[in-house]
Amino acid sequence: MVKDDGALEPGGPIAAEIAWLWWVMLVIAVVVFLLFLVILARGLLRRVHSDEEPAATTRRFLVWGGVLLPMVVITLVFGVTLLVMRRIPSQAGTDALIVEVTGHQWWWDVAYPQYGIRTANEIHLPVDRQVELRLTSADVVHSFWIPALAGKLDLLPERVNTLIVEASETGVFRGVCAEFCGLQHAKMNLLAVVDSAEDHERWVERQLSPAAAPDDETAQRGLDIFLDAGCVDCHAIAGTEAAATEGPDLTHVASRLWLGAGALENTRENLSSWVEDPHDAKPGVDMPEPELSAEDLHALVAYLETLE
Ligand code: CUA
Repeated sequence: MVKDDGALEPGGPIAAEIAWLWWVMLVIAVVVFLLFLVILARGLLRRVHSDEEPAATTRRFLVWGGVLLPMVVITLVFGVTLLVMRRIPSQAGTDALIVEVTGHQWWWDVAYPQYGIRTANEIHLPVDRQVELRLTSADVVHSFWIPALAGKLDLLPERVNTLIVEASETGVFRGVCAEFCGLQHAKMNLLAVVDSAEDHERWVERQLSPAAAPDDETAQRGLDIFLDAGCVDCHAIAGTEAAATEGPDLTHVASRLWLGAGALENTRENLSSWVEDPHDAKPGVDMPEPELSAEDLHALVAYLETLE
């Protein structure tokens, strides 16, 4: 079950700091607003039975309300912001898991250099361990944001930005691209799957294994179609000759929760309609229609379904 937690339902210590800052700023804003209401009410009431406008009162109001109060408020907000910035780690510990995330129009390439594995649109994290995300972009500016786990940070071409993430509860958290990056910006979502250390290890083991070899005639035909119909020009499947990196790595595509970076749930039916016409669920996506016969499409989908 995907958790739709927002920034005010933090699932880790770093997000908790940011949520705390938000609440402090809300309290300050409420106090200022109440003060404003009191002053407004006083001004309205006084006007009724007093027609004199003492210059000293006006000046005092300007100095207090226009100079001193904003200075106090801004200094306060600046101070707590600095405090939170200091409490959020800017460098990960030496045992941090490193994950390289590359934004593409409109999907996420996710690589784990310490393990040598690559996946897409899902980030798997062990609970209670710092993760150093190294963010970059293959094309335009994107922004990485998993509201329940950390603040947001831009992904820029030819530059690597580092974001530290830590989760203190297991579960699947929703993430988004938070910077308009073209037609399908809204369908550039990702999932952060937070597992216990043991479950995470198991996931890594499974990802390290190459794709399952076709175990029947239909799946074998599906693989042949994959290699002939142009899929191979963009996608990689470890253990086959497909090794392109223009599109998401499909080695374990069947184990993922979503298709098309959140465009569809990963069911057999959706996989079939996605392959048949990706532009139906995600107009403008780079993937062309493969133009297959119904039988070939069935075989291709049957093969992809085996890639657990
Ligand atoms: Cu990528 Cu918006």
